[in-house]
Amino acid sequence: MSDRKLLVTNALPYVNGHLHLGHLVGYIQADIFVRYQRMNGNHVGYFCGDDTHGTATMIRAREEGREPEAILEEMSDSHQQDFAGFQVVFDHYGSTHSESNREAVTGIWTALREAGRVVERDVTQLFDTESGVFLADRFVKGTCPKCGASDQFGDNCEVCGGMYDPQDLGDPRSTLTGTVPELRTAVHYFVSLEEFHDFLDEWTQSPGRLQPEIANQLKGSFLSEPLRDWDVSRPAPYFGFEIPDAPGHFFYVWVDAPIGYIASTRDWCDQNGEQVEDWWNNPDREIHHFIGKDIVYFHTLFWPAMLKTGGYELPRHVQVNGFLTVNGEKMSKRKGTFLQARTYLEHLSPNYLRYYFASKLSSSVTDIDLNFEEFTAKVNSDLVGKLINLASRTARFMKGQKLCESYPDDGGLFERGAAAGAEIAEAYEACDTNKVTRVVMALADRANEYVEAGAPWSLKKQEGKEEEVRQVCSVALNLFRQLTVYLQPILPELSTKANELLGQESESHFSEAQSPLTGVSVEKFEHLMRRVDPDRITAMVEASISEE
Ligand code: 2FM
Ligand code: ZN
Repeated sequence: MSDRKLLVTNALPYVNGHLHLGHLVGYIQADIFVRYQRMNGNHVGYFCGDDTHGTATMIRAREEGREPEAILEEMSDSHQQDFAGFQVVFDHYGSTHSESNREAVTGIWTALREAGRVVERDVTQLFDTESGVFLADRFVKGTCPKCGASDQFGDNCEVCGGMYDPQDLGDPRSTLTGTVPELRTAVHYFVSLEEFHDFLDEWTQSPGRLQPEIANQLKGSFLSEPLRDWDVSRPAPYFGFEIPDAPGHFFYVWVDAPIGYIASTRDWCDQNGEQVEDWWNNPDREIHHFIGKDIVYFHTLFWPAMLKTGGYELPRHVQVNGFLTVNGEKMSKRKGTFLQARTYLEHLSPNYLRYYFASKLSSSVTDIDLNFEEFTAKVNSDLVGKLINLASRTARFMKGQKLCESYPDDGGLFERGAAAGAEIAEAYEACDTNKVTRVVMALADRANEYVEAGAPWSLKKQEGKEEEVRQVCSVALNLFRQLTVYLQPILPELSTKANELLGQESESHFSEAQSPLTGVSVEKFEHLMRRVDPDRITAMVEASISEE
């Protein structure tokens, strides 16, 4: 019995857009990790929430003539519905626009001030005179000053990966109005980071903290030169928290976004009679963050510096996932491959995507491709053809009967499956679900060979073979359930159905894959999973094209 204590978070999605399938890569990955930990008896809190502040929310509220809070509520509902649709189940879904977050931000800010880490400096920024706002990096586009690529955002270049200041862009344009922005000067507050350099060298490079490619990338880039001060304020107008000791100035969204992890935990604690300190100031608690590769430097440089100064525990591990392409290309609205979560759910089962993503995700940061042909083949031949088939070809011969009282000789198949548990556990721990699915499918192949050879459908027609039928089916159903237990973090619904078929509790402990069931009644076989209908994929793509 394990008793680790974990705190797991996913990056907080921006409030200014609906979830799309690219978002879901990291959420599904973390949800699988959380479910795996729980099925080993570990204690896990899984927290998320909406990232609400910034120019984008302010602009949208203005355009729609609404209060930002109304937008926040609507988007939070939408995000939560989508997460639920994909069976991503948080303990708490908070918001960065909450009193708990304001308090946590104020605490860290005070600590930064007291530590002498805050400096003031004039900043000249691009200002859109038509809309009256300073332009956040994402609201300016122009030519990359490092490589000359055109149409790049104001903070970093998607072509060369370079980072720069927006005023260094060539030929800048406001993305709000298309006008040429002008330069204006205002006071900004900065956090000086260089004092954290040694600490960050050590923290980022310590084994198991980050995937090796991320640790190396940081070492060779940001950490190879003095760390630049971080601009943490924005002058009004800005939708965010006003800086308590600097009226007219607001915290930059990226200050309060990760602190939202603490606030979401705190909200949950308040509702459950727990203390947030037990979660964020407790060295026995492992903090695991799951993020996309575009936000690595926020989570591995600024964030640990803020946590350390604020007196919090530091993350044990940051798991970074890559980007999603669809059919080998960047998701495209025009081609209908910019797939919103809800459009997907209107056409296809979430289980397909959970399995497909799991089969593509490993512990490394590689981008993954959603290829519709491969998606269909994996679901139809792996899941339905190999796994579900074990039950659908045998359960019907056992209706109203019990599994054999003692587990029959299966030539060592169940034992071999049980022995694979250690390898599967290690793979889940490392977020290498590609390996999990490979190991499970290899076991399913062996199990199918057994069923083919046993051919209960032929035995059934022969007189006096009832006991043999029962033995073959008892083995097949046990092998089936062993594999659904292994896949429970990925396919919780399937595991529940398999357990129901055999009269078991709906959720299994991981160790249940170690011993076969005997003497239990086999319930009526209910449909477990349909094959992917390619017409549904076509319909989904068509529906996406016609979305706004
Ligand atoms: O990149 C994003 O989508 C951000 N909204 C993630 C924030 S993560 C955390 F820091 F809040
Ligand atoms: Zn560039």
